[in-house]
Amino acid sequence: MSDRSEFVVVANRLPVDRVVAEDGAASWRRSPGGLVTAIAPVMRSREGAWIGWSGAPDEELEPFVEDGMNLVPVPLSALDVERYYEGFSNATLWPLYHDVIAPPVYERKLWEAYVRVNERFAEAAAQVAAEGAVVWVQDYQLQLVPAMLRKLRPDLRIGFFLHIPFPPLELFWQLPWRRQIIEGLLGADLVGFQRPGAAANFLRLVRRLLDGRTSGQLAFVGDRVVRAAAFPISVDVQELEALVNDPAVRRRSEEIRADLGGAKVLLGVDRLDYTKGITQRLQAFGELFRDGELKPGEAAFVQIATPSRERVEQYRLLRDTIEQQVGRTNGEYSELGVPVINYMHTSYTRDELAALFLAADVMVVTPLRDGMNLVAKEYVACRADHRGSLVLSEFAGAADELKRAYLVNPYDINGLKSTLLEALRAEPAEQARRMRPMRRRVIEHDVDRWAREFLSALEEPQHPDPPSAR
Ligand code: ADP
Ligand code: G6P
Repeated sequence: MSDRSEFVVVANRLPVDRVVAEDGAASWRRSPGGLVTAIAPVMRSREGAWIGWSGAPDEELEPFVEDGMNLVPVPLSALDVERYYEGFSNATLWPLYHDVIAPPVYERKLWEAYVRVNERFAEAAAQVAAEGAVVWVQDYQLQLVPAMLRKLRPDLRIGFFLHIPFPPLELFWQLPWRRQIIEGLLGADLVGFQRPGAAANFLRLVRRLLDGRTSGQLAFVGDRVVRAAAFPISVDVQELEALVNDPAVRRRSEEIRADLGGAKVLLGVDRLDYTKGITQRLQAFGELFRDGELKPGEAAFVQIATPSRERVEQYRLLRDTIEQQVGRTNGEYSELGVPVINYMHTSYTRDELAALFLAADVMVVTPLRDGMNLVAKEYVACRADHRGSLVLSEFAGAADELKRAYLVNPYDINGLKSTLLEALRAEPAEQARRMRPMRRRVIEHDVDRWAREFLSALEEPQHPDPPSAR
């Protein structure tokens, strides 16, 4: 028992991806996305084990230590990757949970793979966790793990956190396996969501789908009590502040501005995902040139898009759409050596990202739906100078907290255009008036506080007596 862990995180991905170069040399690279950004600092500051997949198919790896974290790889076969990861997780659940922006695929063989792989993660967690340990299961890829793990190890305290939105009953009802998902989540003692509305959606499903009883944040399941509540996730403010105080990062930021010829800089930083509203923001920006509101050299858009889920059809289609859109917009409005959009389909280091945040006059975050959106909070955390403007979609969880951002409906292209102009033209005093309270919020509610609040709620005993009526 002694090499077992008192604290275990279970996530689809490990914080690092295994990359094998052409000469066969293997190395590790940071995995993409907000889950890793948030959980890695939490894990570094606590003793514990992180169970997850290495990002490559058919790899059997021994547990190892990386960047101060104990990592326990779970292998996925090529078929698991296709059906569980690309299939049920990212072609069924991802679009269903994001307002059905793309049509979800409902296929039985994808579901079967999801069950099979969730079982494997539950078994791995059951082996790694010490007696009475705290196990924290993450995100939509592993919603069956809480109930599976409880069956294997009733002694554990099990928490679950969903990083993405949780849909209203009217959409969730489409899912042929809706009941199994809710039962899977109810295996946890605490189910955390980004927003209170998501927790309410879940509790409503417990009532309607399982005829379960609920009271406030509590659901009564047999002789157990499960709490569902919101815990809005955040960023590692200390890490970002250290980066922007680094003279090399500041120099790089000046260099970026100089390379853009003194134009006002608008910045987008996203995984290349159809939920992020990248086409809408580029459309709005391009039209400002068509309308004569902006001239080449006056403002430049820098869009950084990390490659993501590239074998899933909707992601392939999106890449083509965006590349065509960038080409067309630049073809129509750029001048020689002065592109209006600078598009990079690649992942950047944290230093380079911090330099970009410092260089950006306007940060443009326009998801059509997003659980939280950490990029918005990262921008705010980096702007200790109180400069810069944040344009933020009303449909991002972050909009609940960053109320002084320029809030937009990304579907409203005219609204987006006028907001971009307003943000571009904001005087320094106005920028500071908006940035100051947003920074206060992010500094006070950083990722460490998020983890402490979730974990202390998980340790609390829940209400012992189920009410007799709903
Ligand atoms: P999601 O989790 O859906 O990808 P978030 O905005 O919550 O969206 O988190 C994205 C994380 O990935 C942030 O920490 C952001 O800085 C990072 N990121 C996004 N795009 C890039 C990129 N091109 N290069 C490096 N990191 C990126
Ligand atoms: C979002 C999800 C994470 C996921 C990340 C990157 O943040 O909530 O669970 O890890 O995107 O996506 P990927 O499919 O590359 O793991």
